[in-house]
Amino acid sequence: MASAMLNGADNIARFRGTTPNGLGFSGSDFHGKQFPKMRLVYSNRISRSGFGTTMPKCSVSDSRPASQPRFIQHKKEAFWFYRFLSIVYDHVINPGHWTEDMRDDALEPADLYDRNMIVVDVGGGTGFTTLGIVKHVDAKNVTILDQSPHQLAKAKQKEPLKECKIIEGDAEDLPFRTDYADRYVSAGSIEYWPDPQRGIKEAYRVLKLGGKACVIGPVYPTFWLSRFFADVWMLFPKEEEYIEWFQKAGFKNVQLKRIGPKWYREVRRHGLIMGCSVTGVKPASGDSPLQLGPKQEDVSKPVNPFVFLYRLILGALAGAYYVLVPIYMWIKDQIVPKGQPI
Ligand SMILES: C[S@@+](CC[C@H](N)C(=O)[O-])C[C@H]1O[C@@H](n2cnc3c(N)ncnc32)[C@H](O)[C@@H]1O
Repeated sequence: MASAMLNGADNIARFRGTTPNGLGFSGSDFHGKQFPKMRLVYSNRISRSGFGTTMPKCSVSDSRPASQPRFIQHKKEAFWFYRFLSIVYDHVINPGHWTEDMRDDALEPADLYDRNMIVVDVGGGTGFTTLGIVKHVDAKNVTILDQSPHQLAKAKQKEPLKECKIIEGDAEDLPFRTDYADRYVSAGSIEYWPDPQRGIKEAYRVLKLGGKACVIGPVYPTFWLSRFFADVWMLFPKEEEYIEWFQKAGFKNVQLKRIGPKWYREVRRHGLIMGCSVTGVKPASGDSPLQLGPKQEDVSKPVNPFVFLYRLILGALAGAYYVLVPIYMWIKDQIVPKGQPI
């Protein structure tokens, strides 16, 4: 499985040359050229100013042009998007982007070593990732939370998840007490959160001292056409944004592991819907040191139905591009001789 670890300990620096097993990556760079093994290390220094201060928004995201609409990075639009997508989610969407071996690879840094651990799976949807979690943890200790009852209805039908607690809720405002869980897992959901920093701050709050958060999500494309569709659809964070969000929330030992479908041969230029697994450890009990202003999206507020429909349709059309990308990469993988970049 294509994977690599990045470490959130020190300043952004690139090391070329040999790296210890599991800490480097080799293969294609963003443009499909072969690179020697490489490791990225990030610094608290770039983000220390954010600790304990009022930060309504993450500064890295703020550096993006406001012109990028990201039509479905909203709770209402995401709700209706999954009203329809849940019908085909497990059988049509997942095989191109989120395979069982990718899932197991992505969950490995979550360190699920004890069947008695209390785990929350936030944005757990149809329970595809939860099926990976219950291989290691007793289902009765796992809670699946999602804002979509349609997605959760699919999870309820899965036999291995029968004993899980299944609840509707918002990732940015979790209905769990502070210091509740041993592990927080969220796979493929952050891209819909209007305020991802708030969601990660919530991950910190609900974890016990020493607990670990594992956020699995997309990575931003570099190829122009893929970037265009990504920006119309939803949030594809950059790797450094994940690290910064975790560090600002107060997490320590922040690590990023690259993942991807094996037929991509580690190509990342089109972005990936499931492109990395980011983990961090809660170093002290209680709430996150990060203070935030009011929520960015008030779902109780009425919206103009035409604006809503316009956003939903354009966002969903842009998402359709990402149904085609894995098929295109699969065809390339079949055609280009093994060992060569695609
Ligand atoms: C791509 S699916 C991932 C489902 C599952 N985690 C998996 O691995 O297959 C994204 C899920 O996030 C949920 N979601 C989006 N925004 C949310 C929010 N603010 N709070 C809770 N769930 C949310 C959606 O309803 C959807 O089920």
